[in-house]
Amino acid sequence: MTNHCFIGFKIYLHMSNYHIKGLEEYFNVYRKSIDKPEEFWGDIAEEHFVWRKKWDKVLSWDFTKPEIKWFENAKLNITENCIDRHLLTKGNQTAILFEPNDPTEKAEHITYHQLHERVNRMANVLKSQGVEKGDRVCVYLPMIPELAITVLACARIGAVHSVVFAGFSSSALASRIIDCDAKVVITSDGSYRGAKTIDLKGIVDEALNSCSGVKTVLVAKRINSDIAMKDGRDKWLQPLLDDASTDCEPEIMDAEDPLFILYTSGSTGKPKGMVHTTGGYMVYSAYTFKNVFQYEQGDVYWCTADIGWITGHSYIVYGPLANGATTVMFEGVPNHPDYSRFWEIVEKHKVNQFYTAPTAIRALAKEDLVFVDKHDLTSLKVLGTVGEPINEEAWHWYNDNIGKKNSPIVDTWWQTETGGIMISPIPFATPTIPTFATLPLPGIQPALMDENANEINGNSVEGRLCIKYPWPSIARTIWGDHQRYKDTYFSAYENMYFTGDGARRDAVGYYRITGRVDDVIIVSGHNLGTAPIEDAINEHPAVAESAIVGFPHDIKGNALYGYVTLKETGETRVHDNLRKEINQLITEHIGPIAKLDKIQFTVGLPKTRSGKIMRRILRKVASNELDNLGDISTLLNPEVVEKIIEERL
Ligand code: PRX
Repeated sequence: MTNHCFIGFKIYLHMSNYHIKGLEEYFNVYRKSIDKPEEFWGDIAEEHFVWRKKWDKVLSWDFTKPEIKWFENAKLNITENCIDRHLLTKGNQTAILFEPNDPTEKAEHITYHQLHERVNRMANVLKSQGVEKGDRVCVYLPMIPELAITVLACARIGAVHSVVFAGFSSSALASRIIDCDAKVVITSDGSYRGAKTIDLKGIVDEALNSCSGVKTVLVAKRINSDIAMKDGRDKWLQPLLDDASTDCEPEIMDAEDPLFILYTSGSTGKPKGMVHTTGGYMVYSAYTFKNVFQYEQGDVYWCTADIGWITGHSYIVYGPLANGATTVMFEGVPNHPDYSRFWEIVEKHKVNQFYTAPTAIRALAKEDLVFVDKHDLTSLKVLGTVGEPINEEAWHWYNDNIGKKNSPIVDTWWQTETGGIMISPIPFATPTIPTFATLPLPGIQPALMDENANEINGNSVEGRLCIKYPWPSIARTIWGDHQRYKDTYFSAYENMYFTGDGARRDAVGYYRITGRVDDVIIVSGHNLGTAPIEDAINEHPAVAESAIVGFPHDIKGNALYGYVTLKETGETRVHDNLRKEINQLITEHIGPIAKLDKIQFTVGLPKTRSGKIMRRILRKVASNELDNLGDISTLLNPEVVEKIIEERL
């Protein structure tokens, strides 16, 4: 391969190893990916992507440092792979299909040609505001085309995007802006969410009171609200876009240059800015998109996630576009104007692959089937779920009523840190079983570990889920805190990436994820660390101490239960008022997704003699599993347990 050669043209001619069809092929491909990982990924990277310069080495790695490099010294720009190379053959095909919140507003079909122009304009606007390669750009936008376009525009010029989900509060936004030292924020005058509007710009203004580093705020118009614009700092986006050129040469990036930062909760402390790099992330998100959704040219694919989460990054933007797919972007919510909205959209756009979260399925399954049955869902070929374990009942509802027992369900297990899907069935190849994510994708080597940090071999076993070999889209570090990256993921087990999840491997080798084994709680598919929520609660002047645990919830999967002790200040406010104030604090510090369902005021929290809160006991009480509390005799204060049980909610 020579410099500047576009090897991507081979993509649809040479499909070996790229598009797995059938179980036998899966096993063959998997075997090769394990026996010869460098050859496996090197071939895929070479045959199916556009590089400006080939790598010197496919992989070098050391989990003890940890340091992982894929496609060392290769040069590329991911937007050439996601946009430019499709222009010749499918410039007029829809790349992004935008479905607005209001069903009476027209859907927007953005072709690859138009996407190219709009991304280039946006890239030129960013440049005109002084954004350079390596600079961080914070994107705080609703699910409108500008969100995907801004993400791609950053990638075009080599800026590192940090998308913050537009449901996060001003202080959550501020801490993320400060952590990555973003100079520019892109937002909108507001957002639609069902029947409500949200004042996004107001949230940004508040956040920026504590972020002096931000010099420029670019504001997209969405709801035409009358907002305050700060002189010299805030600029309307549209006039800048109108004046910008539609040409923008892609910045040539190293395969290991950072592509984006995305924050995820940890069990302790501030959120972790996971850093994903360019080459490996591109190869893995594209490869897994193609195989897990069995995407065929001409299909319409829809992932209902928000681009503020990793699912949206990998499977609304990068994975689909790298495959030249048509990807739907939905601005609204599943119950507006009524509970048929998802199915109405499937019918309207003849969606072929539909990817959503178990919490959405559970919420829709509670409603009358009329909402489903009035729509023609025959276009559907593959259904997917992500973000949390799917319970059997929800799986069957999805399979029976949406897939009509005719569309395989892919229960995809992965994480912000993994960048792409890790364990999942391949439709029409892997037989599915409800609640099982089934088999590892090619290149993924799971291991189950016991309490003594030994690997558990064989089948019909359960343990802590680790991955023992790097895959191309593993996060490379935590922004600004490599030590934390090492401590969190590579210290519990030697030479392994530790996922934080538990899993079972059944008799035939299928994996079933059993849930988090740390203090992260998955609520409605959102990853919430207990520490930041407890920190928010503890800011209340009447609160002495708090502990958060999860308990099972019909729709959310888990809900949050807070145990709170009050200071002895003669607090006389009624508890219900305090509960409201506590949830208000959580909303301000994190966002409404982290609000507690139950708050129990208690005289004390059960502690070990070294002062550690015994969450295991609190979890059991919250889940009403009172006959199995374990040994409490070693506690510092066993008497509080009885009191907590007596007063449980
Ligand atoms: O506990 C697992 C759960 O979600 C966690 C990762 O959350 P996050 O980084 O926000 O990424 C979510 C979207 C990829 C995991 O550690 N999880 C994710 N998918 C599944 C799951 N649990 C069970 N089954 C899944 N399919």
